[in-house]
Amino acid sequence: MKRNILVTGGAGFIGSHLVRLLVNKYPKYHIINMDFLTYAGNLENLKDVEHKENYSFTKCDICDFKKVKQVFLDYKIDSVIHLAAESHVDRSIEDPFSFAQTNVMGTLSLLQAAKSYWNGNFNNKVFYHVSTDEVYGSLGDEGLFTENTNYDPHSPYSASKASSDHFVRAYSDTYGLPIIISNCSNNYGSFQFPEKLIPLFINNIINNKPLPVYGKGENVRDWLFVKDHARAIDLILHKGKLGDTYNIGGFNEWKNIDLIKVIIKKVDRILGREEGSSEKLITYVTDRAGHDLRYAIDSSKLKNELGWEPSLQFEEGIEKTIKWYLDNKDWMDNVTSGEYQDYYNKIYN
Ligand code: NAD
Ligand code: DAU
Repeated sequence: MKRNILVTGGAGFIGSHLVRLLVNKYPKYHIINMDFLTYAGNLENLKDVEHKENYSFTKCDICDFKKVKQVFLDYKIDSVIHLAAESHVDRSIEDPFSFAQTNVMGTLSLLQAAKSYWNGNFNNKVFYHVSTDEVYGSLGDEGLFTENTNYDPHSPYSASKASSDHFVRAYSDTYGLPIIISNCSNNYGSFQFPEKLIPLFINNIINNKPLPVYGKGENVRDWLFVKDHARAIDLILHKGKLGDTYNIGGFNEWKNIDLIKVIIKKVDRILGREEGSSEKLITYVTDRAGHDLRYAIDSSKLKNELGWEPSLQFEEGIEKTIKWYLDNKDWMDNVTSGEYQDYYNKIYN
């Protein structure tokens, strides 16, 4: 079947992996990447697919309702995979307004454009909203987030994502819009902007810069290789049940400080330094405000109903990731020039 799929945020970290997968796997689909190219969006991430016939890029702010509606018309959009967002928790603490604007109002603008363009004809249509496990709040030492866990967001970022999830469900309940939501745990891999823990720390180890560990480093995150997230989205898009929610996670929990020590050892070894010698760079800093203690996803629904499982063991995924950042120094230099330095000084100094 031919499809015209609008991917929002396709120039970002997860979006670029998803666009690459869809463009290469489905030559008959037309993949339209709508991205406003904020600091986190980078067309360099898509160099290898930008000339493909089944790929188009349109620079557009998802909050610009008029322009978004025009894109639906121009490209005859029948499916939306919505990833565009402000995605970094620390930035949301500094500037909550832009998170409400992009994540809530931007999602609303897309929902309304889809509703208006599809105009009640929902055959073979889907609005797929990509969300996060952070909407569920924080776990103690025990338990996992399931699809039935109550929402309990704590940061402006997670509150804005929770709000967008509610709007998506409201459009299903009120207008019958065919929707799917997935909530995923922390992703890692290539092309991630180095404000996030893993690429930030790899870059700082390379450059012998302090490694700012929030609090005591005891917070726990459940890490998933980004290509496995993209595979899960592809599967859910094609086989998921309309109206349903799917949790995506790797059953791969790490205490921050343990993860950091593994990364240090591996980067040291690859750089020919004494293994573990960069632990001297670890610097405990003031904790993130409202820092959630533990996230852990139960993705058994996705496994039992659709047969999805992570393809990579963490050991292999993190090795690949570290090597990618070491081999792509130009990419790192490009994204860390300019305004990145101002951000860094503001957050860490
Ligand atoms: P990212 O910050 O790397 O990319 C976000 C993209 O959205 C960028 O390309 C940016 O230019 C674009 N964008 C931002 N504002 C826009 C606007 N107003 N209009 C159009 N485009 C805009 O984010 P990511 O880590 O790839 O996350 C993608 C999605 O997945 C987000 O919705 C996020 O909440 C969700 N998510 C992320 C993770 C993770 O670990 N990174 C985990 C679960 C869910
Ligand atoms: O769980 C999914 C979420 O994962 C996504 O929805 C978000 O978009 C994504 O940014 C990520 O959020 P986190 O806040 O968990 O990721 P981050 O990489 O910012 O931080 C991971 C952990 O490391 C967290 O406990 C905070 C800690 N940390 C982070 C940074 C940047 C530090 O100790 N020092 C740091 O400098």
